[in-house]
Amino acid sequence: MTNKFIMIASSKGGVGKSTAALGIAAALASGGRRVLLCDLDFGNACLDILLGVQDSVLCTIQDVALGISSVEGALIDIDLPDQNSKRKKAPKNDGALKLFPCAVSAPQTISESGEGGRINAYNICLAIKDAAEFFEADYVIMDTGAGANSVVRATARLCDMALVVTGQMPVALRSAEKTVTRLTELEVPDIRIIINNFDAQGVISDSRRGLFTVIDESKAVLAGVIPYDYSLMLMHERLLLRPGDSKIAFENIAARIEGENIPVFSGIKRLRKLKKKICQ
Ligand SMILES: Nc1ncnc2c1ncn2[C@@H]1O[C@H](COP(=O)(O)OP(=O)(O)OP(=O)(O)O)[C@@H](O)[C@H]1O
Ligand SMILES: [Mg+2]
Repeated sequence: MTNKFIMIASSKGGVGKSTAALGIAAALASGGRRVLLCDLDFGNACLDILLGVQDSVLCTIQDVALGISSVEGALIDIDLPDQNSKRKKAPKNDGALKLFPCAVSAPQTISESGEGGRINAYNICLAIKDAAEFFEADYVIMDTGAGANSVVRATARLCDMALVVTGQMPVALRSAEKTVTRLTELEVPDIRIIINNFDAQGVISDSRRGLFTVIDESKAVLAGVIPYDYSLMLMHERLLLRPGDSKIAFENIAARIEGENIPVFSGIKRLRKLKKKICQ
């Protein structure tokens, strides 16, 4: 399989991009894929902390982009806890997930044109491509900062797919539609929406333009829904995901990325009961 580059994006901050990046990367790696998780949120890098490996960060993507470090010197192995996926025969997954960490710096300092000796769109993309090749990654999951900042615009050119994370409220959906439009302009070939913090009861009792109408009208495909799950806030203490609805939601999204046709609420107990009401 050739490397597949997937960007996690949003207009608004704090909607769950990093959580989704981690959950989807873990689900793909648990299913036997080699996954390179890149922290491209130059303003608010956080994946090292969420994964509990902040003390192992010696070199970063910026160092590799500047030629100060090799790819090998920057990548960090992430141990996956034994996860009993219902969907796959749990293959051995040691070394299947690596983090390409990022130093916190101002994203606006990234120029889109190539200038010698400075971090720019060209050498960041090159660093990501080199890392993907070195690790022989099946998937490269790129967690970005909110909005179409210069890092997003630069790395969009690498992407095979973008996952736009949003909430389900009308304001959030309008922002998501805007992000889909921007990424379409940047020629990302496959753009899908993830509804995070999904609250089925809220959708049923909301008399405004329905969630699924909005998704149908946007040009993006629904990649999946992730229910609100308090345990996701404690990810860094439990190292990745506890069994439960959110873990199944990430596995469903991973399976759809792999091309499987999975019904939207498949296996998510809390949402299954309300499925008929929502989808009518
Ligand atoms: N489905 C969920 N259920 C409960 N809490 C969640 C869920 N998704 C995300 N969170 C929590 O919401 C907060 C913001 O999530 P996260 O950091 O993933 O957002 P983000 O979009 O990456 O933010 P930023 O724009 O700052 O990068 C975190 O505390 C996270 O644990
Ligand atoms: Mg984030």
